[in-house]
Amino acid sequence: EEEERRQMREALKLASKLYHHLLVHTEYGRHAREYLKQRQVSMETVEEFQLGFAPPSNQFLLSFLKQRGFKEEVLEKAGLIATRDSPAQKKYYDRFRNRIMFPIHDSQGGVIAFGGRIIGDGHPKYLNSPETPLFHKGNHLFNLHRARSHIRKEQQAVLFEGYMDVIAAWQAGIRTGIATLGTSFTDDQARVIRRNAETVIICYDADSAGQSAALRGLEILRNHDCTVKVAQMPVGMDPDDYIRRHGGDAFKEEILAGSLSLTSFKLESLKKSFNLRDEDERIKYLAKAVDVISDLPLAIEQDHYLRRLAEEFHLSLDSLKEELRKRKALKK
Ligand code: CTP
Ligand code: MN
Ligand code: MN
Ligand code: MN
Ligand code: MN
Repeated sequence: EEEERRQMREALKLASKLYHHLLVHTEYGRHAREYLKQRQVSMETVEEFQLGFAPPSNQFLLSFLKQRGFKEEVLEKAGLIATRDSPAQKKYYDRFRNRIMFPIHDSQGGVIAFGGRIIGDGHPKYLNSPETPLFHKGNHLFNLHRARSHIRKEQQAVLFEGYMDVIAAWQAGIRTGIATLGTSFTDDQARVIRRNAETVIICYDADSAGQSAALRGLEILRNHDCTVKVAQMPVGMDPDDYIRRHGGDAFKEEILAGSLSLTSFKLESLKKSFNLRDEDERIKYLAKAVDVISDLPLAIEQDHYLRRLAEEFHLSLDSLKEELRKRKALKK
């Protein structure tokens, strides 16, 4: 058992080295190198993240690792090769073909899995390692082993949706970026983060999938006593798009520094479901907003957000306070 895990780790490490070598130093990797260049990923970043390229062949990694004495069963368990039962015999083939490879590490820095991106358009856009004895998607976070010391120092982590967001942020000098691995955020991941930092900035894509995932992540992180903030991107953009278009400094100063508290984020999300130019809808929004504020535990918090609402909609603070009292009485 222990020996098998050791072999799996060794195979994953060798696979990562092979993929990286193919990307950086060979003709196989040319197309992938050009794609990364076009996405403004520097060669320095390719080194830092040990990005790689899996060639199109069915048996490239398989024969490479078999020559080095690895058994097919071990490679299959490690998620590196897949199998198909043909009438005559079991057929093994490389799981990752013609993809840019993102190694995923455990907290000690050992390779435990891969994400693989298709070059250009196509389906599936990302292919990830399956669950294996070494890799449980819900327990790990992309880039945590690199980011951890920075996260501890700053007592803050930035949670992204995708590999490329973490990488673009890293290139812009943000060292505290981590990402989930193609699944929704879990309690286990929240626990890991909380052990290292007090505050988390959720920085998901500005599309409806990203925003509802942000709301769910927010609740989970709050249940684990994190202070949560939510960054707001222009609609339709993700952090990598934003950084490419506006640069890293704008991302830090506008997006991260301008991230919203939980309550502001809830109020902003709520706003989007009303047409505020319509008077009736504006009143409905205000009633709901006061409702959100009335749930806040601290009176000073309630006061703070009521004042903001009063300013924003040119209302008297007294009328909002009166409304808040009514709502609270109703809830008792
Ligand atoms: N993902 C996945 N499988 C897919 C699509 C997405 O596992 N078929 C995961 C990947 O981890 C990806 C993340 O979800 O990084 C976010 O998805 P998406 O926003 O679609 O991709 P981006 O990270 O923006 O990738 P790119 O910029 O390369 O298009
Ligand atoms: Mn190298
Ligand atoms: Mn997305
Ligand atoms: Mn995205
Ligand atoms: Mn993207």
